[in-house]
Amino acid sequence: MRLKNKTNTQQNAFITGHSRGLGKGLSSVLLNRGYQVYGCSRKGSDLKGQISNIACDLQDFQKIPSKLQALLGEVETLELVFLNAGILPPLKNMSETSIEELRQIMDINVWPNKIILDWLLQSDIEIKQIILMSSGAAVFGSKGWGGYAISKAALNMLGKLYAHEFNNTHIIAIAPGLIDTQMMDYLCNEADSTKFPALKRIQNGHQNGIIQSPEDAATKILNALPEFKNFGSGDFIDLRQIIAPEEFQELMQSKKNKK
Ligand SMILES: NC(=O)c1ccc[n+]([C@@H]2O[C@H](COP(=O)([O-])OP(=O)(O)OC[C@H]3O[C@@H](n4cnc5c(N)ncnc54)[C@H](OP(=O)(O)O)[C@@H]3O)[C@@H](O)[C@H]2O)c1
Repeated sequence: MRLKNKTNTQQNAFITGHSRGLGKGLSSVLLNRGYQVYGCSRKGSDLKGQISNIACDLQDFQKIPSKLQALLGEVETLELVFLNAGILPPLKNMSETSIEELRQIMDINVWPNKIILDWLLQSDIEIKQIILMSSGAAVFGSKGWGGYAISKAALNMLGKLYAHEFNNTHIIAIAPGLIDTQMMDYLCNEADSTKFPALKRIQNGHQNGIIQSPEDAATKILNALPEFKNFGSGDFIDLRQIIAPEEFQELMQSKKNKK
């Protein structure tokens, strides 16, 4: 028999990739809002409070179900699931990207999420909302974002397909906007904007201070949760559509102008 969660009013969230960046931001804001956070990453979290960690390399597919069982086996309800873990490999032209590199990206950004969704589906945990952390790259098709863009487009479709099978759970894939994390460090300090022009907007944004801190991005996502439910389960939305429509229009226009 299942053990009850700590109290009947306790709200629970499960987050992958919670050790740093946006996943850490989400953990921190949710802890402050009184949630019990269950997190999975290789390094774990240094946050204190109502947080349970499991060390899990998501590339190790075989071990994911037993890790989830150890972390979530006693949980009855998850208000929120964030499938957030992901990597951004170095920007490259598609023709210079090997199949092996593409496989590696998919093996972190996509397939572990299928295994996690399968485990959640067969568990008897009541799950209210699942958020897949996608990216504008899923639809922009900017030069250099090859394997990452393909993985996020596939993630969006994964969410759409699983929406047919999670009958009582709202699933959404979101582009969270630009966030000051390790990924952003690479895009702003190492990647070559002469070779990959879409970087200019990001690098300018960094200088102009429009890149969000992980905590700010997390707060915006959490505040938008009720609005996500106005979209169909399985949809993909760019958070900027909701919170910054003008910035979103300008972004879409710039993408139309520059293929
Ligand atoms: N930053 C942005 O501007 C931006 C924009 C759009 C979308 N996103 C998306 O937002 C999500 C979070 O990005 P971020 O910027 O916060 O990235 P980040 O700072 O690089 O953090 C990535 C997280 O994923 C985890 N992770 C990576 N490989 C893993 C593996 N093999 N097994 C388990 N966990 C793994 C890392 O934990 P460990 O290293 O401890 O395992 C870490 O907690 C990603 O899906 C990204 O694509 C980010």
